Amino acid sequence: MSIFRAGLFKDKVALVTGGATGIGRAITEELLSLDCKVVIASRKEERLKEAVEAMCPNSTRLRAKVCNIRQEDQVKNLISWTLKELGKIDFLVNNSGGQFPSPVSAMSLKGWNAVIETNLTGTFLMCREVHDQWMSDHGGIIVNIIADMFRGFPMMGHTGAARAAVDNLTKTLSVEWAQDGVRINAVAPGSNIYSPTAANNYDDPTIFDRARGGIPMKRLGSPQEVSSAVCFLLSPAAAFITGETLKVDGGSSLYSYLMWQIPEHNKLPAYSWTNKTPTDEEEDPPKSKL
Ligand code: ADE
Repeated sequence: MSIFRAGLFKDKVALVTGGATGIGRAITEELLSLDCKVVIASRKEERLKEAVEAMCPNSTRLRAKVCNIRQEDQVKNLISWTLKELGKIDFLVNNSGGQFPSPVSAMSLKGWNAVIETNLTGTFLMCREVHDQWMSDHGGIIVNIIADMFRGFPMMGHTGAARAAVDNLTKTLSVEWAQDGVRINAVAPGSNIYSPTAANNYDDPTIFDRARGGIPMKRLGSPQEVSSAVCFLLSPAAAFITGETLKVDGGSSLYSYLMWQIPEHNKLPAYSWTNKTPTDEEEDPPKSKL
């Protein structure tokens, strides 16, 4: 269940948003296997029930709480409930997220705001509240799950903007909260991590097959391969790492292969300094004075 040593997180308490499905579920399973106590949060009660039943039905080491991370009062309540139930919060994993594929030109303000509120504002609220209610006095470790948006995110502009903002927020908080004993890092899975939950989010069943072409390792990643990166950052092996973003993408963010195809067009012709085009051989561009 884990590459890490048994009992690594004994007596630790983790809060994992979106911990019932996909990558969040793999993180929850690995933390449980390392003897951590875990609270999973989700907007959907049925998802939580199914997850507890499947992962840890007869133990109080896994608990579940309904929470919409867009709602400040619900976030405050999630943190205070966890502290009341388990006495502390050592780890926060901000994994909840949501988006829908669309070109930016077709996004309504409502759709844009919903994605920004879930992925950016929800993460801000969770971080601020866990810090205010616990980590400012006791320290702790936070991991934010973001996405591969490093070269822009065609068809996912809203979540790309939100995740880039969380990447930056992670850096800011690593500096602001170091004096409180808080380490905070991000993990950026590629869009090539296969899970049934991820597959259900896309109408196009071929998307994962097509994604494979853009991965130097020529295979998809698994939620467990993201989880092990999260557990590393939560572990003492990462004691001197903060404000960092760890990509888990099989190298795809470094490989110039884009799923987004641009048709031939001439909508952005080169600027011409004279009436001639700069491609005319006899015409040199102006010389630099430097
Ligand atoms: N997963 C997706 N959206 C969410 C939200 N608003 N709150 C909690 N988990 C979520």
